[in-house]
Amino acid sequence: MAERSAALFERAKKIMPSGVTSPVRYFEPYPFFVKRADGCHMWDADGKKITDMCCGYGALLLGHRRKEIIRAVEAQLGRGTLYCAPTDAESELAEMIISRYPSVEMVRLVNTGGEATMTAVRLARGYTGRSKVLKFEGCYHGAHDSVLVGAGSGAAHYGVPASAGVPKSVSRDTMVAEYNDSGAAESIIERHADEIACVIVEPVMANMGLIPPEPGFLRRLRKVTRDNGILLAFDEVVTGFRVAPGGAQQHYNVSPDITTMAKAMSNGFGIAAVGGKKRIMRELAPSGPVYQASTFAGNPLAVSAAVASLRVMDRLGGAMYERLDRNSRHIADAVEDAASSYGIPHVTNRVGSMMQVFFTDQRKVGSSADALRCNREKFQILCRTMLKKRVFVAPSQFEVAFLSDAHGSRDVERVADAYGAGLRAVRDNGKD
Ligand SMILES: Cc1ncc(COP(=O)(O)O)c(C=O)c1O
Repeated sequence: MAERSAALFERAKKIMPSGVTSPVRYFEPYPFFVKRADGCHMWDADGKKITDMCCGYGALLLGHRRKEIIRAVEAQLGRGTLYCAPTDAESELAEMIISRYPSVEMVRLVNTGGEATMTAVRLARGYTGRSKVLKFEGCYHGAHDSVLVGAGSGAAHYGVPASAGVPKSVSRDTMVAEYNDSGAAESIIERHADEIACVIVEPVMANMGLIPPEPGFLRRLRKVTRDNGILLAFDEVVTGFRVAPGGAQQHYNVSPDITTMAKAMSNGFGIAAVGGKKRIMRELAPSGPVYQASTFAGNPLAVSAAVASLRVMDRLGGAMYERLDRNSRHIADAVEDAASSYGIPHVTNRVGSMMQVFFTDQRKVGSSADALRCNREKFQILCRTMLKKRVFVAPSQFEVAFLSDAHGSRDVERVADAYGAGLRAVRDNGKD
């Protein structure tokens, strides 16, 4: 697609593994290199304008360079970038989170989603005095040892759901059940009740394509964990603030013990959070024995971005979520119409501003096993064709297409048209 990107990639490959800084950024024959971004667009190294449907893997709920956020960060730049001492802005952010998440009474700010889930798991282990963790096949919770078992996202894409380098002594404490199979989770819990510290789950699985929870799944997890003194951790790194102001727990009305959040919270800056009830959170050092620390935690730039992001979301209110839902429904309907008229067996899953299309004869895609049975070559044809039409959808079946508030009606039409072209190419087996 872009000559300059090809040349830049040659240089990058020599000095960075696969030429990228995170696995899913790699794709064949080479990824496009980005020069700048604004609103719902990015410009590649050749100056071509691309409509972004990856949106920082969900982080850019308000679009690139949202002016209120840029202003807040610029103001903070004038006051300093790192203090390693408390700021009132951290408390403001914590209060904003707590006011949106009734299950959260205290917050620890960290830097990344992975750091948040690592802290959540350690906290659960420290709080319960138990060591096992139950997770779900295809859920991705970051790149740390306890959760790199049956992992989705890039780990599934590259066929390494259990990573080399994770000691067996660690991974044997991580048990895995199929997503949406609460019976399987209950029977594992029955056998290991006294050993399990937490059940960690993406309340909407967004790392195996998009897989919504089936009615009752989250509620049954809530009951069985409560009945057995196990903590329920919702990993809302993707869904937090995106599915609703109070995340998927608000949308599905299920209250976890621990919540992790990141991405949309700061609209593109490195910050994440772990939250929960006071009795659990107080176990963190220095008030408690569970150690967790970071130089950059609560750094004022990221905190100012997060506070500004949440203020914008407050101002836009429910109308933003309704608009996002309407726009993504419009795209999903266009996908349905095109795929059906071309006779392409498929399933489209959608929750609010997140969607994914799967090429399959199955009636539904409700689990990691279902997603693995879908035709991934066809998905690659779809993404490659869409990119030729200058619409960027994350180039993996196991990621998700994300809409932002910056996508206007013309952008939404452009995306719908690009899906149409991509589906025509799928019908024609890659010839467009
Ligand atoms: C649900 C979920 N949890 C955790 C993570 C890890 O977040 P990070 O990449 O910021 O470490 C991700 C990343 O995509 C995620 O999707």
